[in-house]
Amino acid sequence: MTCLAAVFLPHQTAFAESADANALYTRHCAECHGPDRLGGIGPALLPQNLRRLRKKAAMKVIASGRASTQMPAFGDVLSGDQIAALVKLIYTPLPRIPEWGRKQIEASRREAVEVDHSITKPLHSADPLNLFVVVEGGDHHVSILDGDTFKVLHRFKSRYALHGGPKFSPDGRYVYFQSRDGWITKFDLYTFEILAEVRAGINARNIAISEDGATLAVANYLPHNLVLLSAQDLRVEKIIPAVSMDGVSSRVSAVYQARGRKSFIAALKDAPELWEISTDVEAMEAGRQLFALRRVRLPAPLDDFFFDQSYRHLLGASRSIKGAVVIDVDTGGVVARPPLPGLPHLGSGITWTWKGRPVMATPHLSEGAVSVIAMDDWSIVKTIRTNGPGFFIRSHEKTSYAWADVFFGPHKDEMHIIDKRTLEIVKTLRPAPGKTVAHVEFDRYGRHALVSIWEKDGAVIVYDAKTFEEVKRIPMSKPVGKYNVYNKITFSAGTSH
Ligand code: HEC
Repeated sequence: MTCLAAVFLPHQTAFAESADANALYTRHCAECHGPDRLGGIGPALLPQNLRRLRKKAAMKVIASGRASTQMPAFGDVLSGDQIAALVKLIYTPLPRIPEWGRKQIEASRREAVEVDHSITKPLHSADPLNLFVVVEGGDHHVSILDGDTFKVLHRFKSRYALHGGPKFSPDGRYVYFQSRDGWITKFDLYTFEILAEVRAGINARNIAISEDGATLAVANYLPHNLVLLSAQDLRVEKIIPAVSMDGVSSRVSAVYQARGRKSFIAALKDAPELWEISTDVEAMEAGRQLFALRRVRLPAPLDDFFFDQSYRHLLGASRSIKGAVVIDVDTGGVVARPPLPGLPHLGSGITWTWKGRPVMATPHLSEGAVSVIAMDDWSIVKTIRTNGPGFFIRSHEKTSYAWADVFFGPHKDEMHIIDKRTLEIVKTLRPAPGKTVAHVEFDRYGRHALVSIWEKDGAVIVYDAKTFEEVKRIPMSKPVGKYNVYNKITFSAGTSH
């Protein structure tokens, strides 16, 4: 693509360039990506939303378009210089954080009109609790997989770039998806229909559902807030601006359901603060406020965290602290500082009992290791050396093994199987040499482990969890994640939540 060499040539004045880029944008892009770059039939084009797209890749998309999508090629219409100016524009933050409040959220909300409320059983014959929801990031689709027969029962187009795990209603009937651009979609696993959609933010991180299934919480980067929605119809219940005790406006790192505490717990990204938001309806009846916010000051802002089973302690990590910290959620006090190596990916940690003690295991994003930590005294029981940094580790109550991917580096095509009793790697699978293999999820019985070939022409591979033999290979378009209904609604210790 020789025209792109022009990128490196000096431009005229910065002003002329940006005026030019804005005009080009309005003329060629606004129709699909929105006049203010907040998105339309195409995704939002803001630096926060484009974090995973390299600038070079963005140039290529604009010049060549994207096959079998509505994104056209502009290589014949725009010069290399003009494309470069547009790329510069879309990676420049908006002058102000755009307004996305109750009014805008409500205006985006849609509900299915013809819903048959008499349906109380699945319209399919599969076990509704052994379904897998597979998010295919390659072409932005979701597949519903039968966890007994491994047949795809249904496939539909999702919002652009779903991320964070979907969340399920307590009975497993409904699943809620969240997209990078802040769209929340409610889907019925009995009828395979989308019931409602709403855009709760402009750039969202993750969602959580309350223990009673009544409320969804959306952690947003843009705008800086936490949005609470009715899980029933996705109407706004409350918007909590993310402003710290010290008055700092912050992104929200993540939000989780604190099981047993009847609350959501969220952390701020740009301020050392943890929030607990009550979803306890009984407390409300006793006169206390629903969604009351309790703030806890932390030693540092947290990017990523993991709770013990009681949700009393939180193991947190951030780029600004070495290792990790264990925080008492009630007091905010630091309980321990386990010396974990290179960036633990705590959000994907799992737990089990080892020699009578509760342990958790976490991969590391910048080191080839899985750390096993005893949760009674927060000591490191073992550092298991792996063939490269990993992203996910998964297991199940009914299996003796934990599966850990090697996500980065020359061994990204490998999957380690760790014996939870001996803490040794007992086998390394290499299902598709040269291709990234990542993310495991077990069926509800722990009999099968499903592994992703994380490529555009990828697959989900079903393994026998005992013999480690391949049972089936199902072609999928970059299956970034798969979620078993039963394991999610029972908060299985072998998967993250
Ligand atoms: C006719 C509608 C349409 C027009 C006009 C359009 N786009 Fe797109 N664009 C899309 C769609 C739809 C996608 C998502 C494609 C996909 O599913 O991968 C997209 C994707 C993109 C992406 C990739 C985003 C990502 O997160 O990977 C970039 C960058 C982009 N467009 C830039 C532009 C620019 C710059 C212009 C104007 C020169 C433009 N687009 C004009 C519809 C459009």
